[in-house]
Amino acid sequence: MGERVMAKKGKRKMAAVATCRKGANFLDLLACRFNNRCMQYTLRNIPKAVDRALRKKAKAEGMRSRAVYKLEELVARDRLLKPGMTVVDLGAAPGGWSQWIRQELDRIDASRPGRVIALDILEMPPLAGVEFLHGDFREDEVLSSLETALDGKSVDLVLSDMAPNKSGMDSVDQPRVMYLAELAMDFADGHLRPGGAFLIKLFHGVGFDDYVRELRRRYDRVVIRKPSASRQRSPEVYALAQGKRLQMK
Ligand SMILES: C[S@@+](CC[C@H](N)C(=O)[O-])C[C@H]1O[C@@H](n2cnc3c(N)ncnc32)[C@H](O)[C@@H]1O
Repeated sequence: MGERVMAKKGKRKMAAVATCRKGANFLDLLACRFNNRCMQYTLRNIPKAVDRALRKKAKAEGMRSRAVYKLEELVARDRLLKPGMTVVDLGAAPGGWSQWIRQELDRIDASRPGRVIALDILEMPPLAGVEFLHGDFREDEVLSSLETALDGKSVDLVLSDMAPNKSGMDSVDQPRVMYLAELAMDFADGHLRPGGAFLIKLFHGVGFDDYVRELRRRYDRVVIRKPSASRQRSPEVYALAQGKRLQMK
């Protein structure tokens, strides 16, 4: 390639990069995506830009986490929330999902607030209208305290966004993820009302297909969703199981 052409290309790239960087927000970057001149720069940076934009949005809206926009999309698409529901949120900290569910239940029908019970191994600052249980869901006493809080009443919607700390080794991390997912499924087996729904974060990998197969035995409808607020490169997806059967297949 001639020197002049290379210099010209270099200048164009610099200009495009500068345009994208100059106060670039998510929409700027998306617009740039269709602009060949900064395609490469933009493609590399879209996930970070989306992440930044969602964090900014969460902060501006007073929400505790960007994860809330994943839930918002999932719930809206399948109309999961109904007035007066009892919702259990496993792996709730820092509280974005519980906070959003609480707000939505109040918005739908403030006279029938239902219940939101949140549980996490980490402490979480209190949220009005959310009952919080602090503990490791793998421990029997923690499950017992959740059962005590339910006092024999069944749950309408079980959410699990639980994710163990990553070691970076798939052979270690994936079994941990799947173990928590098994426990959440067991909990839903025992406490979700017939017809109820179960939404759980999963990671593609060993055990994923078997897990989804097990869900299909228990629920009328099982779909795998990847919300747009979820990082595209992340292997995380959400399994949404609706219509819990009285008897598993
Ligand atoms: C992705 S975060 C949840 C974010 C939350 N949905 C929100 O909107 O703020 C995953 C959570 O799972 C929790 N977790 C991981 N292992 C757990 C366990 N064994 N018992 C309870 N919570 C657990 C973590 O402490 C972490 O807070």
